[in-house]
Amino acid sequence: MAAGTGDIEEAAAVLRGGGLVAVPTETVYGLGANVEDTAAVARVFQVKGRPPSHPLIAHVAGAERLSDGWVADVPDTARLLAGRFWPGPLTLVLRRGPRVPLEATGGLETVAVRVPDHPVALALLTAFGGAVAAPSANRFGSVSPTTADHVRAELGDAVDFVLDGGPCRVGVESTIVDATGGIPSILRPGGVTREDLEAALGHPVAVGSSSRVRVPGQHPSHYAPRARVVLVEPEEIPAEARAAQERGHRVGVILPPALADAPVKAHAVVSVPPSTAAYARGLYGFLRELDELGCDLILASPPAEEGLGLAIANRLRRAAGPRPTA
Ligand code: TXA
Ligand code: MG
Repeated sequence: MAAGTGDIEEAAAVLRGGGLVAVPTETVYGLGANVEDTAAVARVFQVKGRPPSHPLIAHVAGAERLSDGWVADVPDTARLLAGRFWPGPLTLVLRRGPRVPLEATGGLETVAVRVPDHPVALALLTAFGGAVAAPSANRFGSVSPTTADHVRAELGDAVDFVLDGGPCRVGVESTIVDATGGIPSILRPGGVTREDLEAALGHPVAVGSSSRVRVPGQHPSHYAPRARVVLVEPEEIPAEARAAQERGHRVGVILPPALADAPVKAHAVVSVPPSTAAYARGLYGFLRELDELGCDLILASPPAEEGLGLAIANRLRRAAGPRPTA
């Protein structure tokens, strides 16, 4: 059921009272708390099982709210990017303002801010009036939720209120850009493509590297389902799947469009839609579905790293990264 006006008012009241609200955005569902309430922020870390050094993203209702004390200053580049891409799947890292406690930034003097492009999120932020700290509403290291049911299944009673805004339109998290000054760089690829950023800025934009900004929370293993994820070339998928099944694995395959008609023997197969937008939208749901079907090994091929393919490949590589041994 889609969230109504009464739900928005109730959710805003929960935030004011120090509670946690699951918020639909265009990227993924967030686990929201009043950013100024350090006890509520502490609960976000506790519910997620996330180390307190991993900073949260502060969500506001519009670019004009930046001057409400959330950031120390807005460099020209940040203003340009906000004007071009907000509301939307772009997060800007800026210098921290006085209303953002260090508890929300993992002790950093910078803060990540974004204006989500979702009517329910925007209505909540407007009704609440402040900034909402919201990481993705999943346990630390696992797959981000793209439906309200994913949130309920994963966090249950640990969330005080779940706003249902339907399935997320983009499906992968926001692009995080260091906009503290100097040449901006991409700290995490996401829903706004590198090509779109370069077109807006009029120059090439580096991914990761040259930034002076520390990025905690970008672990090699992240966005991971229970099943082990192995990345292989598309043409190797049928043979790899057969071999792993013969070794006794329950193999799940995320089948790239190039192999759409190939006969693949596996425990479960999901076919990737031909557009990268549809692939991004479906990605986390595919990983969850293959887990639910009992697969213990997932074979996938990262798409070409252009457009949204960069973010999809980034998430697949992290899902396939080494897991903590504990
Ligand atoms: O699409 C999204 O961005 C979603 C929705 C809910 O808005 N949120 C999200 O939050 O993905 P989360 O907590 O899962 O990822 C936030 C990441 C952190 O892991 C960290 O890498 C980066 O944002 N980050 C946050 N604050 C930062 C800062 N001050 N400097 C550098 N990186 C920061
Ligand atoms: Mg996350």
